[in-house]
Amino acid sequence: MEPYRTLRLRIYGNGPGKVTDICGMAETAQSLRIIVTGGAGFIGSHTVVALVEAGYEPVIVDDLRNSKASVLDGLERILGRRVEFHAVDCGNAAAMAPVFERPVHGVIHFAADKAVGESVAHPEQYFANNIGATAQLTDMLRERGIAHLVFSSSCTVYGEASALPVDENTPVKPAASPYGFTKQACESLLRYSHAAADGQLGVALLRYFNPIGAHPSAEIGELPLGTPANLVPFLTQSVAGIRGELTVHGDDYPTPDGTCIRDYLHVVDLAEAHVAALQWLERHPGSLDVFNLGTGEGSSVKQVLQAFEEATGRPVPHRMGPRRAGDVTAIYADATKAADVLGWSTKRSLQQCLADAWRWQEKLGG
Ligand code: UD1
Repeated sequence: MEPYRTLRLRIYGNGPGKVTDICGMAETAQSLRIIVTGGAGFIGSHTVVALVEAGYEPVIVDDLRNSKASVLDGLERILGRRVEFHAVDCGNAAAMAPVFERPVHGVIHFAADKAVGESVAHPEQYFANNIGATAQLTDMLRERGIAHLVFSSSCTVYGEASALPVDENTPVKPAASPYGFTKQACESLLRYSHAAADGQLGVALLRYFNPIGAHPSAEIGELPLGTPANLVPFLTQSVAGIRGELTVHGDDYPTPDGTCIRDYLHVVDLAEAHVAALQWLERHPGSLDVFNLGTGEGSSVKQVLQAFEEATGRPVPHRMGPRRAGDVTAIYADATKAADVLGWSTKRSLQQCLADAWRWQEKLGG
C-alpha cells in the first residue's frame, strides 16, 4: 500500500470559483478518481463506501436537490475521512469544470429523478434532468477521453414481462411512464455514444431490480423527502408510527397470494455490483454490455411484510387497498449474466435487508 499523503481539497458551490469549504483528506498516490453523480443519494452513497473499500477515490457530484448534506457526515463516520464533494449539477459543463481539474478514471452516473408518479405529472423535468443531463455528462467524458462509464438503469425497461425470470434478452417494452422512458432513452443514448467513441468509451448499463435496506452501520440509508412512494421506506415509517398503516396496493393479482412480486436486493450488494462493473470495464476497455442486478428470487408484498416481522419482531400495520396505476404484476431477475461476466451475485437475505432498513429507521427516529 502506498503511504498516505494529505491533500487540500476544495468543495465547490454552484459554479466554478464559488469555493464554499475547505477540507483536508488523504489519498493514496495511485488512487483512481471515480466521479459518482448522485453520490449523496441512496444507492450512490453506498457505492461511495464500496469504492473506497475497493481502493478507489470517489468524487461525489450531487446538487442535493433530492438528498441531504448530512449523508456526507454519515459517510465520514463510516470511512473515517471526508470524501471529495462538489455541490453541482452534473449536466452543467461550466460547473463541472473543477471536478475535471485532476485526472478522472471513470464515472458512475446515478443522478436522476426517480419517482414514477411525479414523472407522469412533470415529464419535462424528467426529460431534462434524466436524459438531458446524461447527454451533457457523456459529452464531457468523451471530450476528455474518460474511458469508463457505469449507468444506473432499471428493470422498469422490461415493463410487464411475458416470461419470468427476465434475462437481458427479454424485449424492452414501450415505457409505462416518463420515468421508464428516460431510462430506455439513456440506454439508447449511451449505445450511440459508445458507437461514436469508436472504442474509446466503455459502458456498463446496470438494470436494477428493487434495491432496499441500508448500510449495516446505520450511518447511511434511504432518505425519502416527503411521503415515500416505495414499499420499504413507507413500511419502516409506518412501523415507526410516522405514517399510519401501510396500504397494500392490490391483492387480486394473478400471483399465489394475490399481491405483486418483485426482486428485492440489498443496497450494499447493489453497491458492490458497481465496483464489479467498473473492474469489468477495466478488463475490457471500450466494451458495452447490459446486466440485470437482482437476487433471482421474487417476493410478494405480503411476503415482505412477513419477512419484516420475522427479522425485527414487529408487525407491520397494514390494510388491503386497490391496485396502484402502472404496477406490473410480477418481475424478478435472471442474474446469471452478472454472476458469469462480472463475478457478482447478492449475498444478503431479504430478512437482512429488512433488519438493516429497520435499524436505519430507528436511528432516524419517529
Ligand atoms: C418501480 C420500478 C423500479 C424503479 C422504482 C422507482 C418496476 C417494476 N420497478 O419500482 O425499477 O426504480 O419504481 O421508484 O417498474 N407497494 C405497496 N404499498 C406501498 C408501496 C408499494 O403495496 O405503500 C407495492 C407496490 O404496489 C409494488 C411493490 O410494493 O408491488 C414495490 O413497490 P415500489 O417499492 O414502489 O417499487 P416498484 O414500483 O416495484
